[in-house]
Amino acid sequence: MIGMVEESDYCVLQAELAQVQREVDDMFDALLPSPQDSRAPLVDAMRYAAIGGGKRLRPLLLMSTAELYGVDRDCALRAACAVEAIHVYSLIHDDLPCMDDDDLRRGKPTVHVQFGEATAVLAGDSLHALAFEILADPDTSADPFVRVELLATLGKASGMDGMAGGQMMDMMADAEEYDLHAITRLQQLKTGALLAASVEMGAIMGHVPPAGRVHLRNYARDIGLAFQIADDLLDYEGDEAKAGKALRKDEVQGKQTFVTLMGARKAREQARALVDQAIGHLAGHGGDAKMLKAIARYIVERDR
Ligand code: IPE
Ligand code: IPE
Ligand code: MG
Ligand code: MG
Ligand code: MG
Repeated sequence: MIGMVEESDYCVLQAELAQVQREVDDMFDALLPSPQDSRAPLVDAMRYAAIGGGKRLRPLLLMSTAELYGVDRDCALRAACAVEAIHVYSLIHDDLPCMDDDDLRRGKPTVHVQFGEATAVLAGDSLHALAFEILADPDTSADPFVRVELLATLGKASGMDGMAGGQMMDMMADAEEYDLHAITRLQQLKTGALLAASVEMGAIMGHVPPAGRVHLRNYARDIGLAFQIADDLLDYEGDEAKAGKALRKDEVQGKQTFVTLMGARKAREQARALVDQAIGHLAGHGGDAKMLKAIARYIVERDR
């Protein structure tokens, strides 16, 4: 569905997404050679989860921001794979029987269904570690100050102040009565933190000082929220075949989401308003931030 997206920008976005998907696949392929010993099932599981499938939105966000500031594309791709490695690990663990207990992810059986639970846990652990290994490598940035800032930013976005913290709040959602404020906080941690880190890391690589990143943080906050509203809307009314994962689960599992709190119509309006607001934050870049603007539109109009 193209919706509010300008058709030409939409085509450019699709081409860029396809390009980034290829580059990320190739990089994971190179980073994860299968060992000739009994660790083979672990690496097979990591490859199964990390290669092929997925929109690669976080890599696209990081690389588009990095491009805005003239960062070398190969370096940006490495940092993009670090963020994607964290994302993939979070999906493997999110699908486990002790969490959402899902059998389908990115159109194929989940890692624990394919390889068993223990291997799935270890594959998640190892992708988590791989992310930081990539960022600490001078090939990602020759500047040690940049490397440390990348590490700190991704660390914060992944742990208790980010994704894992949001996942905990999400698991408590059936026991707690969350209002709109609490749901917003939950989603900002669960999903928003990693999306925001993607943008932030692109700017860090471009040596943009914190004061110069404020508009990017505002952009990232708004698209992060819009992204999770779109995910909740997909769960509520999306097409499973297109999404490649089981839908209609939030209600069954008693999850409180933007859709359960405000209804689908208002949630969609809210997501679109957030996207307009996000694009507004980029006004100072003029035509240069075309890709980031197109990503914002795509985030709410997507069907997977
Ligand atoms: C799904 O993320 C999980 C959430 C954070 C809501 P994506 O919608 O980005 O999933 P992939 O990477 O395209 O599979
Ligand atoms: C998962 O959120 C978010 C993370 C993995 C951090 P969801 O549980 O809503 O994601 P889906 O719907 O399974 O992709
Ligand atoms: Mg979940
Ligand atoms: Mg889930
Ligand atoms: Mg969901």
